[in-house]
Amino acid sequence: MFDIQSIRNQFPALAQTINDQSLVYLDSAATAQKPQVVIDAISRYYSSQNANVHRGSHSLTAEATSQFEAARQTVCDFIGASSAKEIIWTRGATEALNLIAQTYARNTLKSGDEILISEMEHHANIVPWQIVAQQTGAKIVKVPMTSQCQFDYSAFETLITPKTKIVALAQTTNVTGTRQPIESVIKKAHQFNAVVVVDGAQGIVHESVNVTDLDADFYVFSGHKLYAPAGIGVLYGKQSLLESMPPWHGGGKMVEKVSFSGTTYSELPGKFEAGTPNVAGAIALSVAIDWFRQFKISDIEEHITQLQQLTYQALSKIEDITVIGFQEHASVITFVMDGVHHQDIATLLDQQAIAVRAGHHCAHPLMDALGVKGTVRISFAIYNTLDDVERLISAIKKAVDLL
Ligand code: ALA
Repeated sequence: MFDIQSIRNQFPALAQTINDQSLVYLDSAATAQKPQVVIDAISRYYSSQNANVHRGSHSLTAEATSQFEAARQTVCDFIGASSAKEIIWTRGATEALNLIAQTYARNTLKSGDEILISEMEHHANIVPWQIVAQQTGAKIVKVPMTSQCQFDYSAFETLITPKTKIVALAQTTNVTGTRQPIESVIKKAHQFNAVVVVDGAQGIVHESVNVTDLDADFYVFSGHKLYAPAGIGVLYGKQSLLESMPPWHGGGKMVEKVSFSGTTYSELPGKFEAGTPNVAGAIALSVAIDWFRQFKISDIEEHITQLQQLTYQALSKIEDITVIGFQEHASVITFVMDGVHHQDIATLLDQQAIAVRAGHHCAHPLMDALGVKGTVRISFAIYNTLDDVERLISAIKKAVDLL
């Protein structure tokens, strides 16, 4: 049963007070709070299991390796990959995107090739492509958004050409929560033999993902938005693509044999995992996934959507506040206030123990397209309640009166 209070009670960070008031955490799109089971998994690992993996011959390393690889299988099952070899551990979605850019893209792009990127992307899904475009002579082509902050699919259909080699877009954008049409984009891109890179950092928390059904070439996400620790993330790639790619970072574990006359590399997934990995992070991510999977995603989304709708209705009644690019059924709401800096609103909310994000949200091109310097963003997660919405709205009203 979806019992919100018992879910909330599993998050110790939510029980604290800030400025003598109980915390209302509405910044989960930046990073989610962690349930006790995830915190316990990290503590348990370092208290009794800590050892390096795939190295050594003692009992602890065998146990750590077995849990580390079991975690990879959990991720594989969670996203519907066909083999655990297609799951590469990274530090997060950002590192995964950089890996794709510096291995797949750098070795396949030629001068004149094009990379299509949606205008609403996070910097992590823009800058790695700009770097590789500079290195290879490829060109970045922006796919605009509509006036409703949605992916302009008709523009995409005119922009995609045989020159397009890569299409990169977020499943769900981080500022407005726009669900981009990844399914149709993948189908269309494949007609042009372009590969599609999906940034699932915001999407995977709010819907079931099956990368095989989706036919995504690459899919990346971070643990920390999925109730797991920061510093662990996932790169999924089709096995044939990953096998065709050269390694990125060099070091231990990613090699088969090293000699000064030449080095041969490990099989997947080791080829892309140089150095000692974040073992505790990988195990804690699998614990977070198992914890998350006990709920029906439709129950979570029904709950979050209700909070988002109520917030939207209340904000729409406050003079001077403009909600930007409101998306039905999203987990975020973004707004600006006439004549007031977004940071001032966030500071006044923080004084009332309401945590929101204010700024450009690592999406300068989107801010430029919207004609704003920044916004205030409210984001909901599984643990938020109607009480949080009431506290937020009353705090915003107070802030508006003061400003
Ligand atoms: N990408 C994160 C956000 O949207 C940090 O806030």
